[in-house]
Amino acid sequence: MEAVGFIPSSQHLVQTNKTVTWASPSNIALVKYWGKYDPQIPANPSISFTLNHCNTKTSVTLVDQSMLSDTSTGAFSFEFSFEGAPKPDFHPKIASFFARVFDYLPFLKTYHLVINSENTFPHSSGIASSASAMAALSLCLLELSDEFPPNDQNVFSEAFYAKASFLARLGSGSAARSISGPLMQWGKTPGFKASQDLVAVPFNKVLAPIFKNFQDTILLVDKGEKVVSSTVGHGLMKDHPFAKARFQQAHDQLALLTEALVSGDMETFISVVESEALTLHAMMLTSSPYFILMKPGTLSIIEKIWNFRKNTALPVCFTLDAGANVHLLYPEMHKVQVLQFIENELVAYCQNGQYICDQVGSGSISHTVQP
Ligand code: DP6
Repeated sequence: MEAVGFIPSSQHLVQTNKTVTWASPSNIALVKYWGKYDPQIPANPSISFTLNHCNTKTSVTLVDQSMLSDTSTGAFSFEFSFEGAPKPDFHPKIASFFARVFDYLPFLKTYHLVINSENTFPHSSGIASSASAMAALSLCLLELSDEFPPNDQNVFSEAFYAKASFLARLGSGSAARSISGPLMQWGKTPGFKASQDLVAVPFNKVLAPIFKNFQDTILLVDKGEKVVSSTVGHGLMKDHPFAKARFQQAHDQLALLTEALVSGDMETFISVVESEALTLHAMMLTSSPYFILMKPGTLSIIEKIWNFRKNTALPVCFTLDAGANVHLLYPEMHKVQVLQFIENELVAYCQNGQYICDQVGSGSISHTVQP
């Protein structure tokens, strides 16, 4: 698949003053994307669980430039509100996203967009919202383009979701994986023929029953701004002394994890997932300049999880994204015991005692009100 394949062959009819709405979930990578090339091509393959409750809901209204004030230049423009208030801080990231997607959504160039967005998870929780936000925005734009209209039952085609993932990737790499669920794979890898660098694709094998409704409890260790953004961190992999070995390791770990996801081999699942989390942070510790996103509470929680696993033999493990928060992953059948463990031993390390209970979900949902 080539990027040019996503340029529409003809201009589609668009309906002005139409509002579309999508809710897209966040996702948590099990094999991590860390390192990329232009334009948003991953240096290694990744796979993630799509979450269920942590969502961004976005509405976009298409306004014809002729409806705007006399001062309008007629060129593309947008206004953006987050949770009911204008959010100029988000403008640069959204503007650079639009610059990247114009070729693939040419209808945009003559419109004004009114974008309203909200998150279901606490605003400053340290949970990256760029994945869910860029996924929801991409789905809205693609629905407005009318390039792939839904069928009579309002079901969108595979081609619609593939292009949405392609667009979302151009906003934020991990957003490519927030389109569908429950497991999404992104980045070409020899063991999986359908894998692609330009779009994320659903994991096409039958998941072992133990992963059904798999739980992710996010322990909010630090809710502050990250000292180094993911985008800068990806850039530091360019001249990283361990880059080549790391990129190869991601292919190898993905192959191992794929087998474990099918067989239900929890030992392998746990060792790959925890190794991926620690390798991600090891890359940060050994970048030039080096940096640390974990906090003391992150390490204390990891130690407690290891002790709990040893003492109870329950298959719980952790992963980390590019931050200090810890994602505790475990099968649904152990929910009661694990939540008790969190309350007894882990809450003390969470900022204001906060954590979020989520689980694996099935992907983005349209909330567009049909006429
Ligand atoms: C550590 O997708 O946030 O969460 O493409 O620059 O927007 P950009 O980066 P982003 O990176 C996510 C990195 C990660 C691992 C992962 O989700 O695979």
